[in-house]
Amino acid sequence: MVYQIYPRSWADGNGDGIGDLPGITARLPYLRDLGVDAVWLSPFYVSPQADAGYDVADYRDIDPIFGTLADADTLLATAHDLGLKVIVDLVPNHSSDEHPWFQAALAAGPGSPERERYIFRDGRGPHGDLPPNNWLCVFGGAAWTRVKAADGTDGQWYLHLFAARQPDLNWDNPQVRAEFEDVLRFWLDRGADGFRVDVANALIKEAGLPDWDEPLHLLGDVDVIPHDHHGKRPPMWDQDGVHEVYRAWRQILNSYNPIDAAGYSGDNDRILCAEAWVDSPERLARYVRDDEMHQAFNFKFLQTQWRAGDLRDAVSTSFTAADSVGAPTTWVLSNHDVVRHTSRLGLPVGTKRPNGIGDGDPQPNAALGLRRARAATALMLALPGSSYLYQGEELGLPDSTDMPDDVRQDPTWPRSGHTERGRDGCRVPMPWEGDRPSYGFGPSDRTWLPQPASYAALAVDRQVGAPDSTLELYRALLAIRRELALGAGSLSWLGGYSEEVVAFVNEPGAGERVVVITNLGAEPVAVPGGALVLVSSGPLTLQGLVPTDTTVWLSA
Ligand code: NOJ
Ligand code: CA
Repeated sequence: MVYQIYPRSWADGNGDGIGDLPGITARLPYLRDLGVDAVWLSPFYVSPQADAGYDVADYRDIDPIFGTLADADTLLATAHDLGLKVIVDLVPNHSSDEHPWFQAALAAGPGSPERERYIFRDGRGPHGDLPPNNWLCVFGGAAWTRVKAADGTDGQWYLHLFAARQPDLNWDNPQVRAEFEDVLRFWLDRGADGFRVDVANALIKEAGLPDWDEPLHLLGDVDVIPHDHHGKRPPMWDQDGVHEVYRAWRQILNSYNPIDAAGYSGDNDRILCAEAWVDSPERLARYVRDDEMHQAFNFKFLQTQWRAGDLRDAVSTSFTAADSVGAPTTWVLSNHDVVRHTSRLGLPVGTKRPNGIGDGDPQPNAALGLRRARAATALMLALPGSSYLYQGEELGLPDSTDMPDDVRQDPTWPRSGHTERGRDGCRVPMPWEGDRPSYGFGPSDRTWLPQPASYAALAVDRQVGAPDSTLELYRALLAIRRELALGAGSLSWLGGYSEEVVAFVNEPGAGERVVVITNLGAEPVAVPGGALVLVSSGPLTLQGLVPTDTTVWLSA
């Protein structure tokens, strides 16, 4: 069980309105009590924050808004004392434009070794004023920006698959590889337990950077428009060459994992987890082959519509693909890049997953969304494999869906010409105490994004000990999951239910059986005779039946 902390929005230690490492450290006991095993922190490195820290200027130091290296050490030590592992976020595809390497590349000019660490090219057209190819930036607009030559005239172009302030590194250059291997060691030596690897599918680009006439679908609905077009792969995503990079990294991680005589690397596991938006579970499985990463985010599950058949299919195909390489499956419903599942599931079934919701957009049905989100989470947490939670989902937080557009910070909003609102709605600071300024986010009333009024009633202190609260539901689910080792169990589907029901049994060990029923149909569903209810995402009917949009775990 991994809990994702988005550092700028979890807890503010000094009252400047931005979350920070001392704030996180002080609140870590909350995560021990929640019952997770590990924390993944989104980037905390030195950064001009052009993409909320996914634009790194120094991979070996902490941005002053988040604290210092000493604060990171304290965080690591405190987490370890509490029995929590810490996974840091590694951003290898691109650096910040303020990284010394990029500044050196600008200064050194065309043809220099400094420029060879990035992807600089001359423009097309007689004056070089057209981009070198037609690739698009994920956040909107062209994926190329032109720089000035030393004499002030227009110069070469550089590639950025993300914001213009995130130049892509050249992974064909051995210096880049050596640098990141050293960065891995830097954090492993400080005690990090692993890495979440940002856009792990992007590092290598097809030689020659050929034009690509289809749109880019990162963070998009890859099931509707697959990445694989008529047998051709996009030249910027999921190139075979990326795997060589991860094989080398795995060797480094292994060297930190003592292996016992039975070949088991015990407690000191350090792991790699890929963020790779690829088109199928089979392509994803390639990232978690024996000698590569340990885990990869399974976005198929996150993208599945609230339909029983779709859910069963997502679960089955994920298992089949992961089993084919002997890796554990992962599950995730929310993160800092998508509309929170409480809001997503409050939109009509079949709605395309929106990239942010704002003023004037169709608004989710809050009560329905929460009910379905609780049922979806209870389903997810009963599945074998590793699950990732996103901060605040344990409170049932919705996205902020009516934030004023002029406070938005995601580069998606301006770069899309104000057509895609982007990801600010899921990044709003956490509510800890309903009656305090900033709902207890920090010691002042400042928050870098405004918190919706609905967050007061959802604050941690309002939910602790409240039997029907979402927080207590998560605690109960996590406690049972841990006690019965459901994550290490195995799943078989149960027959005899209607098409609109997801029903399976998880058998974690000799004699243990947990029956899980999620009812997506209108008619209440009976549970097997003699079964004991372990936990339920919402109340059962007076007759003990499972009503619509409810998940129940049973000992049967
Ligand atoms: C994926 C990250 O999750 C997202 O937040 C970021 O904008 C892009 N990678 C670029 O680093
Ligand atoms: Ca702060």
